[in-house]
Amino acid sequence: MLQGPVEISGAKNASLPELAASLLTTEEVVLERVPRVKDVETMLELLLELGAEVHTGEKIRIRAQEIGGEPREELFSAMRASVLILGPLLARSGMGEILWPGGCSIGKRPIDFHLDALKKMGAEIQQEGSRIKARAKRLKGERIRFPRITVTGTENIMMAATLAKGETLIENPAREPEVKDLALLLQKMGAEIGWEKDGLHIEGKESLGGAQHRVIPDRIEAGTFLVIGALSSSFLLLKNVYPGHLTAVFQKAKEAGVDFDIGENWIEVRGGSSFRSLILETEEYPGFPTDMQAQMMVLLCFAEGESRIKENIFPERFRHAYELKKMGADVEILQGKAIIRNVRKLKGTTVKATDLRASASLVIAGLVAEGKTVIEDIFHLKRGYEDFFGKLRKIGAEIREE
Ligand code: EPU
Repeated sequence: MLQGPVEISGAKNASLPELAASLLTTEEVVLERVPRVKDVETMLELLLELGAEVHTGEKIRIRAQEIGGEPREELFSAMRASVLILGPLLARSGMGEILWPGGCSIGKRPIDFHLDALKKMGAEIQQEGSRIKARAKRLKGERIRFPRITVTGTENIMMAATLAKGETLIENPAREPEVKDLALLLQKMGAEIGWEKDGLHIEGKESLGGAQHRVIPDRIEAGTFLVIGALSSSFLLLKNVYPGHLTAVFQKAKEAGVDFDIGENWIEVRGGSSFRSLILETEEYPGFPTDMQAQMMVLLCFAEGESRIKENIFPERFRHAYELKKMGADVEILQGKAIIRNVRKLKGTTVKATDLRASASLVIAGLVAEGKTVIEDIFHLKRGYEDFFGKLRKIGAEIREE
């Protein structure tokens, strides 16, 4: 039985583009509530190796007075979000260079939308092996329509457009809270950005200034603890949450019979013993997030009857399912879809974490499984959850790292 308060950290996926945005100005950018996770460390190292001054503490202060330098290759291969420095570098200095970004293995993750949009804005892009070089005297504002909605693509182009000549319109922007939070920071830096019905309008400026900003709470961490609370006969109080960002998750949790209440900035969740099956599809915001799919799958292992999940964002993002099966889960995967049938229990065994959210799902499964679960390659979890084990231990979980 787990019990107690859990303080939700700042959002990783808002912090990463916001740290990259510091490259757009010579002045200081100060960010509060940045989570101490591996991906943030990687981004900070990238900024350092690009010549920025970085001070970490309660707040993170970055000043990129001059930029230049070639960051080490492993910083790019460690994290897909490294692509987020390309737009700001190019817009600020007329030149940006990155190496092909790596990251979680959740299926194909191309960056063609980013590159095509920058080309449309006047960039010349060359690819030599894994090196991508972009050049443009000054980017020009353009009308951009991505072939499909992209989160980091929208962020990269929005940042590039803040210093372009003229207006950029992104016709089908991602509207995730993290994208909106980045827009807010950029506005504080002096950017002219407007969310309209027809898309995201950005009027380019000659330069941007410094700003101070508090990162939004991590909705995926909150959702992860909601599932933990539901499954582990707990009584958890999740603090520092923006419930408005979790509407689709709440809707599905309610439908599944999870017992919780929501306040202005908190969620109270009580453990349950029976859940209802769901039909679930991952979608762009405000739909159900792909980043909550793996965690929800564990809950659905305990739901009466048969549940179905269709993964529309990353159709191959089901590697956790094969690990859950080793623990006794009854899951079938077929072409971007999962069928999950009720099992009375999961049993502890040795499983392998394959990506960030898969790791979280295996920890959840391990918490509720009979016996001991050993999760290998758990380093993936540290890329995106701040002090996850510390938080779990505080509410009574038995977890040991070796
Ligand atoms: N896509 C392309 N070409 C591109 C870009 C995207 O084909 O150039 C496709 C992708 O393959 C995917 C779809 O478009 O099928 C949407 O991908 P998107 O670009 O939105 O994903 P992302 O920006 O790479 C961010 C988050 C992910 C999250 C997705 C979807 C960050 C740093 N990452 O990735 O977060 O799953 O949006 O919401 O913001 C995580 O935190 O665990 C994580 C993987």
